[in-house]
Amino acid sequence: MKNIDKRFAGVHALKGVDFDLYAGEVHALVGENGAGKSTMMKVLTGIHPKDSGEIFYMGQLFNPSDPKHALEMGIGIIHQELNMMDHLTVAQNIFIGRESTKGRGLFLSEKDQNRRTEELFRHLNMKIDPTERLGNLTVGKQQMVEIVRAVSHDLKVLILDEPTAALTNAEIDELFSIMRDLASRGVGMIYISHRMDEIARITDRVTVLRDGEYVGTRNTTETSKEEIINMMVGRVIYEEPKQKSNVPQDAEVVLRVRDLNSGRMVRNVSFELRRGEILGFAGLMGAGRTETARAIFGADSIDSGIIEVKGRPVTIRSPMDAVSHGIGYLSEDRKRYGLALGLSVSENAILPTYESFVKNLFVQSGRIDRVVGEYVDKLNIKTPSLEQLLKNLSGGNQQKVVIAKWLIRNSDILIFDEPTRGIDVGAKSEIYTLMNELVKSGKSIIMISSELPEILRMSDRILIMCEGRKTGELDISEANQEEIMKYATMRN
Ligand SMILES: Nc1ncnc2c1ncn2[C@@H]1O[C@H](COP(=O)(O)OP(=O)(O)OP(=O)(O)O)[C@@H](O)[C@H]1O
Ligand SMILES: [Mg+2]
Repeated sequence: MKNIDKRFAGVHALKGVDFDLYAGEVHALVGENGAGKSTMMKVLTGIHPKDSGEIFYMGQLFNPSDPKHALEMGIGIIHQELNMMDHLTVAQNIFIGRESTKGRGLFLSEKDQNRRTEELFRHLNMKIDPTERLGNLTVGKQQMVEIVRAVSHDLKVLILDEPTAALTNAEIDELFSIMRDLASRGVGMIYISHRMDEIARITDRVTVLRDGEYVGTRNTTETSKEEIINMMVGRVIYEEPKQKSNVPQDAEVVLRVRDLNSGRMVRNVSFELRRGEILGFAGLMGAGRTETARAIFGADSIDSGIIEVKGRPVTIRSPMDAVSHGIGYLSEDRKRYGLALGLSVSENAILPTYESFVKNLFVQSGRIDRVVGEYVDKLNIKTPSLEQLLKNLSGGNQQKVVIAKWLIRNSDILIFDEPTRGIDVGAKSEIYTLMNELVKSGKSIIMISSELPEILRMSDRILIMCEGRKTGELDISEANQEEIMKYATMRN
């Protein structure tokens, strides 16, 4: 790709960017949120027409007319946002658009689809039932299905746009072994990720974009995490674990949960959250951390247990109840639960507070702009205007809008479920700073995170879960990765 230029209304997304890919290599494309990575890949697959520049594919000038054309030519993409049909089965999702065989007007029968899907899974060593409805799978499993769909085509180029954001460590290992297999067969892969450790593990070269501009390309073995981050953000960022808790022993308990049971994944969970505290929830995927959060937020029903907010027992039957008690929840699955992609930045940001912006039946749009604008600045949300539709923002910036939403609601108890997933290193440290400011101002945070360095860096105290139960609780001063893993794998 040579000298690629692309503008959207108000945004110069790509400014003469160059990029090349060899057969059989894994080439990382990195950069901060909004740097232009996804746009570059959408140009390559014919989703967005480029304004200028040239693409050469197998030595020939190439002008993809749409993603279907690109796919027929052997270029497939797995998008950052899941792109599948919840109500269809796994097999139907894999064969969608390919039901008829070679123009003979014949449809691949349901049975054949299931059989071929099963073969694919067996070949890739995956255990997913082809007849299961997609919507019943975890986000991680859905992502694996999307990956299998892409590799089921005969590809020369595969683009993976943040494929691991929702995957468990075991699923990431699976993905990487699939990728190594593809590479050995000559497939070139473009790998977009914000996780530096993955880039070191799986890629051969790294290309960095910043603000729509090409910064440079390095061989992975000849560069370092520090150099890449420096190229991305133009400064060096240090991440150090917290040494001791910032919360006094006698701080007020703002949330007390006793013997909480909900569904199969939350069993007799008890804990306390103090004012000004960041309580880390550690554990492996499927430990029941999200389910615990959802029960407290009223998104899932509670079977038994007591929840007290500031010393008073409360009844929470719906998210509305939780919000009225000052609890805000930033979901890990933001696309499904956290965001209205068809609404603007402003509309999303004031969703739970809308009424407070109406006075005598008039919407105070000036005040909305002022408040939302303040948080857009504070969180450094990259958007050309407050009216921009959320779906036009880059993935990480969408995430910051959800955070803004709960901050504007002024919730005292914030549950952040994987708050930095899909967020670039620069924005990540901004979000950490923001969380620290929040607790300093008297708010309390539960932070669910699967990244141990993040848990160790942010938490005052750490609660560890395994298979729906609390298996341990550690003060930050006594916590380390080994200790946390010991409890995280403590099966009943
Ligand atoms: N359809 C669109 N309409 C208007 N602006 C867009 C559109 N798609 C992307 N943009 C803008 O183009 C810029 C680049 O966005 P892009 O999605 O390529 O970023 P990214 O590098 O993939 O970021 P992230 O890591 O957050 O996914 C951003 O400022 C974004 O808001
Ligand atoms: Mg992107």
